[in-house]
Amino acid sequence: MRIAFITSDETLSLRSLQLRDGWEFDRCRFDSDEIDGAFHLAQINDDDEVVCVLSLHPQEYENLNGKGFQLRGMATHPHYYKKGLGKSLIKFAVAELRSKGVDYIWCNARRNAYPFYEKMGFEYMSDEFEIPTAGPHRRMYLQLSV
Ligand SMILES: CC(C)(COP(=O)(O)OP(=O)(O)OC[C@H]1O[C@@H](n2cnc3c(N)ncnc32)[C@H](O)[C@@H]1OP(=O)(O)O)[C@@H](O)C(=O)NCCC(=O)NCCS
Repeated sequence: MRIAFITSDETLSLRSLQLRDGWEFDRCRFDSDEIDGAFHLAQINDDDEVVCVLSLHPQEYENLNGKGFQLRGMATHPHYYKKGLGKSLIKFAVAELRSKGVDYIWCNARRNAYPFYEKMGFEYMSDEFEIPTAGPHRRMYLQLSV
């Protein structure tokens, strides 16, 4: 297994499978995928398959101070659940963002992923709200700077 920077196109099959109920790949793009400063990370297995992905782009959140990035499209292939891939990809992303002087990451976390983000040190900053295509979410953030 190795971690690599990938293109947004390379995230689409896992996004489709895990986050969009099998939608065709083009419909799994985010408007933020190609903005300045956006990047995409993956865990790639020994057969060169992308088995865990996340995407990040510069985006401040109203109540938080400093430089922020939004995390989107966090997904691990079901065959690889709970093997620490998501965790080590987040850690890699955190090191990358710290080196760029970023102060925090925030995301709209799905209900099923709350325990994962809690383990990663994220804190809640909203009550639960509904995203029409994706169910109940809470907004969470991870402070990077002290
Ligand atoms: C959420 C998700 C990305 C987690 O990925 P993962 O690679 O399985 O996570 P890891 O193995 O790195 O888990 C890290 C820690 O979180 C815990 N964890 C992960 N998913 C969990 C869950 N559903 N419930 C409880 N704990 C969980 C792990 O046990 C591990 O704990 P540890 O550090 O004490 O060992 C994955 O379950 C997934 O793709 N879900 C479907 C898509 C999704 O909902 N994405 C989030 C969108 S906001």
